[in-house]
Amino acid sequence: MGRVFVAGSINMDVVATADRHPRVGETVAGKQVLYFPGGKGANQAVAASRLGAKTTLIGRLGTDSFGAELRTFLNAQGIDPGSIKETPETHTGTAIITVAASDNTIVVIPGSNALVSADDVADAPLAKGDVAVSQFEIPLPTIAAFFQRAHTAGATTVLNPAPAQKMSPELLALVDILVLNETELGFLAGTELTDDDETAKIIAVARKLQAREDQTICVTLGKRGVLALASSEEFSVPGRVVKAIDTTGAGDCFVGALASQLADGVPLRAALAFANAAASISVQRMGAGPSMPTAAEVAAIL
Ligand code: RIB
Ligand code: NA
Repeated sequence: MGRVFVAGSINMDVVATADRHPRVGETVAGKQVLYFPGGKGANQAVAASRLGAKTTLIGRLGTDSFGAELRTFLNAQGIDPGSIKETPETHTGTAIITVAASDNTIVVIPGSNALVSADDVADAPLAKGDVAVSQFEIPLPTIAAFFQRAHTAGATTVLNPAPAQKMSPELLALVDILVLNETELGFLAGTELTDDDETAKIIAVARKLQAREDQTICVTLGKRGVLALASSEEFSVPGRVVKAIDTTGAGDCFVGALASQLADGVPLRAALAFANAAASISVQRMGAGPSMPTAAEVAAIL
């Protein structure tokens, strides 16, 4: 069984819950303030680890109280903590989140995450069969260095380009499996897409973005499930209808779960169905990191 290496962000999520979101310039009374471990990288690593993969997280924390709390949480998830460095020069990454009617808004302040460097990924002991995962909350040159190393070692690279930003063709070409939602796909392909768009249109846009013939693109469509394009096939995996209370980190749960299955040698279609099931559990719980399910919980609904 391969290992999962995640190079990515670690944040403290400061969450305000309210009946509805404020409009610009408006103040609304909230109900609760909650502190949850988050950050796309950490969320993906927590999901992979809880789902049974040997998982290493490469990232940075500040030397403040959020950093200490996050380290304690990550250690308790069975994640190899050896690659999480401390950066006294800046604060721990922090996300300011509002959750109302299960929808969220997020402002993320990178802090320590902006300092995750190519040097930090240089020693990752990647090997054939491993899965290297990243997202866009750490510097893109770091991700490129990480994926270069992964390819040299014979590992599979998985990129979740969120939050969306422009990337170089060189970085895109280093990606084996691109996992993104329709908005991110539209942004990267320079075509506006919404979640009402027909499958055929989404597939055409994804094919346009595909950088290599053997690159797989997985487009997550929320309740509509996932569309996958591989070199010779296109298929979709149906979504699961559940009552969501907090969708924060659901995409990260999907990515971490997918990585855990790929590291275990599970074929793509089954791995995507597993990831869908895992994400459907995470949205029924508050918080990002703490809402990630275990393998037994996913097995119970598959
Ligand atoms: O994807 C959800 C995550 O995005 C949150 O945990 C928050 O930290 C932001 O990074
Ligand atoms: Na959740």
